[in-house]
Amino acid sequence: MNYKITVTLLSGVALLAATGCSSMSSKPTKTVEQVMEEGFEGKESLNARVTKGQGTPAEIAHLAELVAQLALNKPPAGDLASWTEKTVALNKAAADLVAGKPGAMDAYKAAVNCKACHSVHKPEKQ
Ligand code: HEC
Repeated sequence: MNYKITVTLLSGVALLAATGCSSMSSKPTKTVEQVMEEGFEGKESLNARVTKGQGTPAEIAHLAELVAQLALNKPPAGDLASWTEKTVALNKAAADLVAGKPGAMDAYKAAVNCKACHSVHKPEKQ
């Protein structure tokens, strides 16, 4: 796994999302639901391991790829501007985590606020 490439890809995603250049952005390969199930659901999730400082470099890179998929998706609820703001911040934090920047873990934990995102963007279940 080449981390430099991952970081470059992630900055590209963040840039595309930030400029709102939808005609050029690539299509997501995973839905938000798939990303949540693969990386976030449960106490032993990939995200839980990484935020507890137990993630290997490969796991951190995998999490960053999942987070990049979020930014490529449209929110199932709530407005796109809010979604873009949250997912771009999350992507930047994940890219910094992959790059091992100082303070990246704190920034990532702040950006991956489940409740802040769910309260606006997670559809009500019947
Ligand atoms: C940037 C926004 C965002 C963040 C941050 C986020 N989620 Fe989600 N999550 C969503 C959205 C949107 C859905 C609804 C997906 C759907 O129904 O299409 C969802 C759904 C889920 C689901 C249900 C998946 C399913 O099978 O329907 C779980 C579990 C979940 N999130 C866990 C978490 C946890 C745990 C965290 C924090 C560690 C988290 N999420 C952070 C946006 C987010």
